Amino acid sequence: MSGSVHLDGVTFTYRRANRCFGPYEAELRLGELVAIMGPSGAGKSTLLWLIAGLLKPAAGTITRPAPRSPNRPAVAWVTQQTNLLSSRSVLDNVLVAIRAFGVPTVADMALARQRLADVGLGAYGDRRSAELSGGERQRLCVARAVAGGAPVLLADEPTGQLDDATSRGVFQALRTATSDAVVIVATHDTAIRNVADRVFQLRDGCLVES
Ligand SMILES: Nc1ncnc2c1ncn2[C@@H]1O[C@H](COP(=O)(O)OP(=O)(O)OP(=O)(O)O)[C@@H](O)[C@H]1O
Ligand SMILES: [Mg+2]
Repeated sequence: MSGSVHLDGVTFTYRRANRCFGPYEAELRLGELVAIMGPSGAGKSTLLWLIAGLLKPAAGTITRPAPRSPNRPAVAWVTQQTNLLSSRSVLDNVLVAIRAFGVPTVADMALARQRLADVGLGAYGDRRSAELSGGERQRLCVARAVAGGAPVLLADEPTGQLDDATSRGVFQALRTATSDAVVIVATHDTAIRNVADRVFQLRDGCLVES
């Protein structure tokens, strides 16, 4: 299994908008927290969609680590819109990523509780997710994304609506997620520099490590 996301001569064009991106070259490895920065409209979300396979490159190739098993996701997302099951418990929101159907096993429950503890929500399992603060909801999203076991975790502006102190907690939660994944964070938030292993800038359609 390839342990990295590899971009090799990747280009992309929104034809109707006449916007061209790339070529992008990068190797992003398991265990790395990678920041993608750049001004609004620079193409950060577009790059994440390419990495996820939701957009097809015009040229070049993108390879990704394989899913850990055939019924597990290859990629997980954390976005500004948290899409939580608001009437269900915090624990249930993590369990859905582990077992979509059937009764959760004792091991499923233990894994979900561990993932919550990893993001500082260990005591919140039985609360309704609608009762959480914005930062707590984002950390729950990170726990849910990690619980699915995807080797690639993509976060698109995960702190866009949060204050600085709360953002730090979300970035720390993403940091813990890197133990078993390559975590790629598109953000304007310069605080990412405190936790990222590598920082790339998107400028004029090019990806430059800084
Ligand atoms: N479906 C589309 N069709 C045409 N143009 C698009 C499409 N999606 C995005 N674009 C354009 O491509 C450029 C990059 O968009 P993208 O959403 O990737 O930027 P971004 O860096 O994520 O910006 P932001 O920080 O505001 O989220 C923008 O100029 C945008 O208008
Ligand atoms: Mg964007």
